Amino acid sequence: MGLLYIRSMAQILITGGAGYIGSHTAKALAAQGHGVVVLDNLATGHRDLARWGEFVQGDVRDATCLDALFGSRNIDAVVHFAAMSQVGESVLRPLEYYDNNVRGTLSLLAAMARHGVPDLVFSSTCAVYGPPFEALLTEDHPIAPLSPYAHSKRMIEDILADAAQAGGLRFLALRYFNAAGADPEAETGERHTPETHLIPLVLQAALGQRPGITILGQDYPTPDGTCIRDYIHVCDLAQAHILALDHLRRGGGCGAFNLGNGLGASVREVVNAAAEVTGRAIPVTMGQRRAGDSPRLVGDATRAREVLGWRPRYADIREIIATAWRWHSQEHARNAGG
Ligand SMILES: NC(=O)c1ccc[n+]([C@@H]2O[C@H](COP(=O)([O-])OP(=O)(O)OC[C@H]3O[C@@H](n4cnc5c(N)ncnc54)[C@H](O)[C@@H]3O)[C@@H](O)[C@H]2O)c1
Repeated sequence: MGLLYIRSMAQILITGGAGYIGSHTAKALAAQGHGVVVLDNLATGHRDLARWGEFVQGDVRDATCLDALFGSRNIDAVVHFAAMSQVGESVLRPLEYYDNNVRGTLSLLAAMARHGVPDLVFSSTCAVYGPPFEALLTEDHPIAPLSPYAHSKRMIEDILADAAQAGGLRFLALRYFNAAGADPEAETGERHTPETHLIPLVLQAALGQRPGITILGQDYPTPDGTCIRDYIHVCDLAQAHILALDHLRRGGGCGAFNLGNGLGASVREVVNAAAEVTGRAIPVTMGQRRAGDSPRLVGDATRAREVLGWRPRYADIREIIATAWRWHSQEHARNAGG
């Protein structure tokens, strides 16, 4: 039994492991006894969040760095989070996005091939889907990315499919909906600068770090007129990566999987839930619709449930917000020197 346990452990390279989702995945993998090596250039990541396994500061586009890393450690598989991931910024700086995301992945794939590492789990996004948006998006929904960021992810999915077809690579592309929440033990959490995600923005308003939040559009064809999104807990995402690695190591097929909880929450519901969880008032201003926002983006993750055996544990938006609240309150106290 003990021997079997040891033999099933693996050494996993996590690119972008000093970031939000990567750090939670590093913790989850380490908790299962896997070896973890984090590679991160700290462009948007944080050294203190890379606290599980070994940390290597470097860039996925740097072949020399990758050769040194793969050449000196027995890496069994790679989980690839490293990317630039702000939609608005990608519209302004498309070349940087293609360079970092697409060239970075090509560089990583070439190094994996040089060092005989076959398995890759890739962070894709629901932003690869395009209109018309149905009530529940399956993996077969039309692909039509609307931003350079989303386009870079779609290009990478295509590259992975071609490379797998040619042989030598096995991959799963995980299309996340909106990652949310934080480690329930508050050892890591979301720390994006600038922050663009709704739940942290709302919690910053609850903490008095910003005057309030602006709801962009209240005349969408949804029950309360505000946009609906699918919030999936970051620990449920981390668990899906472990299952994806198991799947690949068992020789399972390649492909794309949605990771969402299938339960949308509107912007107004998120604000109300945050007020309830924090017990604080959250000042709201109503603004105009933002171009390109679809009324509803909710994922159907049946494939991940059936093929990977994924069972997300956090369904209630209040539970998700409660974990984020603990993290953000702690960060606030730390920054205030408390
Ligand atoms: N947060 C979400 O809701 C969400 C949704 C869909 C997809 N994703 C994808 O998930 C991944 C992780 O997202 P996140 O929210 O944790 O972002 P993040 O910015 O917190 O993490 C990304 C990490 O990658 C590192 N990085 C960037 N470029 C690098 C490079 N060239 N070499 C080495 N390290 C590099 C950054 O320093 C950072 O630590 C990204 O690929 C993102 O596109 C995120």
